[in-house]
Amino acid sequence: MSVIKSVSYDQQEIISGIMKLCGIDRFDVDLTYGNGKFWNEENMPINRFDIDDSLSNLTAVCSSVDTPLADSSVMSAMFDPPFLTYVRESRSGNGNMVMAKRFSGYWRYDELAEHYQQTAKEAARILARKGVFVVKCQDIIHNHKMHCTHANMIEWCAEWFRLKDLFVLPAKHRMPAPNRAGSQKHARIFHSYFLVFERN
Ligand SMILES: C[S@@+](CC[C@H](N)C(=O)[O-])C[C@H]1O[C@@H](n2cnc3c(N)ncnc32)[C@H](O)[C@@H]1O
Repeated sequence: MSVIKSVSYDQQEIISGIMKLCGIDRFDVDLTYGNGKFWNEENMPINRFDIDDSLSNLTAVCSSVDTPLADSSVMSAMFDPPFLTYVRESRSGNGNMVMAKRFSGYWRYDELAEHYQQTAKEAARILARKGVFVVKCQDIIHNHKMHCTHANMIEWCAEWFRLKDLFVLPAKHRMPAPNRAGSQKHARIFHSYFLVFERN
């Protein structure tokens, strides 16, 4: 059997590594299913949620902060939320959070923080002890400030979860960033993370 490594350019390899390490055949729930690019016919999550009602193959349209699942009823949950801030186009409502470009980004970093924190709380509610919560996230520079989202998420989850594993997905292509004139002040972020948490 090949060794599962913490870095890969292939997110499918990371996801299947996480599933092997955690003994998951199918996730119980994907909280932000989107177009389902993480999955194939064999490992399609049982509950496929998203807030966007235009998507197909969902089992329910709901926010990741308020799902129809009972307390301690699942053993695995995937969360791949939007990570962009500073998106200005066509602002529209997303529960209590103001979202833009139809759920693909946040206007301000504190809206991202609120969504991630509230979802961590909801994941803690629905996951049973030793249940696995996987979060894909990316750090971001906004308004000349470094927002270390992966470290923040570890802190936001700390009340209920311990970090079990951390995977790095380097970008194959240039990642989105604000277009600003002037000299570069921060390293261009070229990777995202898969954080693997275990419910206490
Ligand atoms: C990065 S995409 C997910 C991509 C997905 N993994 C895929 O394979 O297509 C983020 C998703 O989060 C959804 N989303 C945004 N806010 C949400 C919320 N509050 N609750 C549930 N889903 C939300 C968006 O509609 C979008 O489909």
